[in-house]
Order: sequence, then structure tokens, then C-alpha cells
Amino acid sequence: MIEPGRSQVEMPAMSRSFESAAGEVRVYETATAACREAAERIARVVSDHQGRAVLGLATGNTPIRVYERLLELHRAGELTFRDVTTFNLDEYYPISPFDPNSYRFYMHRHLFGSVDLPPNQAHVLDGTVPETAAAAHCADFDRWVDEAGGLDLQLLGLGRNGHIGFNEPSDIGVDAALRLPTRPVELHPITAEDAAQDFDGRLDLVPRRALTMGTRTILAARTVLVLAFGARKAPAVAAAMSGPITSELPGSLLQTVRERVVWLVDEAAVSG
Ligand code: F6R
Repeated sequence: MIEPGRSQVEMPAMSRSFESAAGEVRVYETATAACREAAERIARVVSDHQGRAVLGLATGNTPIRVYERLLELHRAGELTFRDVTTFNLDEYYPISPFDPNSYRFYMHRHLFGSVDLPPNQAHVLDGTVPETAAAAHCADFDRWVDEAGGLDLQLLGLGRNGHIGFNEPSDIGVDAALRLPTRPVELHPITAEDAAQDFDGRLDLVPRRALTMGTRTILAARTVLVLAFGARKAPAVAAAMSGPITSELPGSLLQTVRERVVWLVDEAAVSG
């Protein structure tokens, strides 16, 4: 029953929640409900900062419905991006912003092209910088995040291999893995394999390199919202939430900042 005087906002249906070593876990009946909750939380962060929030955004299949809901809120006049600043996690390299598979294009299609976010406040790593300027561009990106005051909220997906952004599994050790700057990287074979579906199923068309926000910036976000849906993510989710903290599964690094992490998942992602 709806109490008199309370707005009749439909709340996303959560089935259960629990604490994990990598933060609070909220399990939703559907991925759509979890995405709706993510969008509501993003909107709340924007309003908590009087519209001036600094948001870290993700691409991929997982957050598409988050952007759909943000768009609805914007169209309903409940959310403005006029004073928001955004930083995207990553971009293929090299890639044109006009390539439909670029993350710049993705963001334009799913959010930027339909909201009032000023273009010079929407930062996506540039897949067209010259080879010799790529590292400096990435360093600039970290500086821009710092100058904006750091990320109020970072939206994250999790790769099937446990990557966050394109911080891929490696054997560099935990200390180094926690301090990685934004930088050029090579994609892990599993990442390339998963990306192939967007490139007409052709692995040979997937760029093997990318620019990624580093773990240092991601993990410094004041809130980290991690989304994971479906059984194919369950092994990585379980390892991130309860396995050892290791550079071999970058999602496990979230355990080091667990008090700032909230997972919004469906049942299949946590029933490994
Ligand atoms: C995307 C990103 C990646 C994805 C991850 C999951 O900006 O940084 O880490 O979040 O690969 O991808 P999907 O959502 O397609 O399963």
C-alpha cells in the first residue's frame, strides 16, 4: 500500500542483499531493475552535488539500461547534466570516434547525444591520438580527473576475466596493480574474444590495444557501483567478491576499498 503523501515511484525489485569482502551486494530480480537502481543512485549523486557531480562512466552491454533510465529521468525534467563532468573508463586504440564500435560513439548513442551535457565536460580517452602522444594523453586524463576533484561515483562492469576498465589480469603484484595510472594497454585474449561479437563476430577486426583509466583513479572514486549480470559473469564475480586479492583478477582489488563499493547484480551473477 502506498502511504498518503509519498510519491508513487516504482522501486526496483530487490530480492536480497548481503555483505561480501568486496562490499555490499544487492541482488535484483532482473538486470533491468538493477540498472534502474544504478540510474537512481547516479541521479542522487548529481542532486547531492547540486548538479556538479563528477561521474565515471562505463560502456559495454551491461550499463545500456542505466543510460536508458538516465535519459528517462532527463526527459522527465528530473535530471540535468548541465554542470556534470564525466570521464569514461576506456577506449579502443586506435579507433575513430565515428566508428560505431568506438566507446565515444557508444556514449553519444546511449547518452551524450540526447542530454544537456556540454561536450567539453564529457571526457572519453581519444582513440585518435598519435602513437607518440598516447601516454601523455593518458597522463592528461588523470590530471583532468584530479582537477575536477576526483570521481564522485564510478560505474563499473566486470569482464569475464575479472578486468575492470581495461585493467587486465597480470602478474605484476597487488601493490603495483593498485597504483596503475591511466595508460595504453593490450587487450587480454578473453576480452578480445568477448569484444568480437560487436565486430561482426570477427576477432581479426577487434583492436588489440586500448587506453584505459588506471586502477588508481577507479579505486579512488568516492562510490563505486559495480554491475554484473548473467551466469557467464558468475565465476569472475565470485572471485572478485571472495577470492584472494590479486593482480590476476583486477576485480578483486575492489576488496581494498570495500566500504565504498556497492554491487548491483542479478541472481545468476551470484549463483556460481
Ligand atoms: C567498459 C569496460 C569493460 C566492461 C566489461 C564488461 O567501459 O570498461 O570493463 O565493463 O568488459 O563488458 P560487458 O558489459 O559488455 O559484459
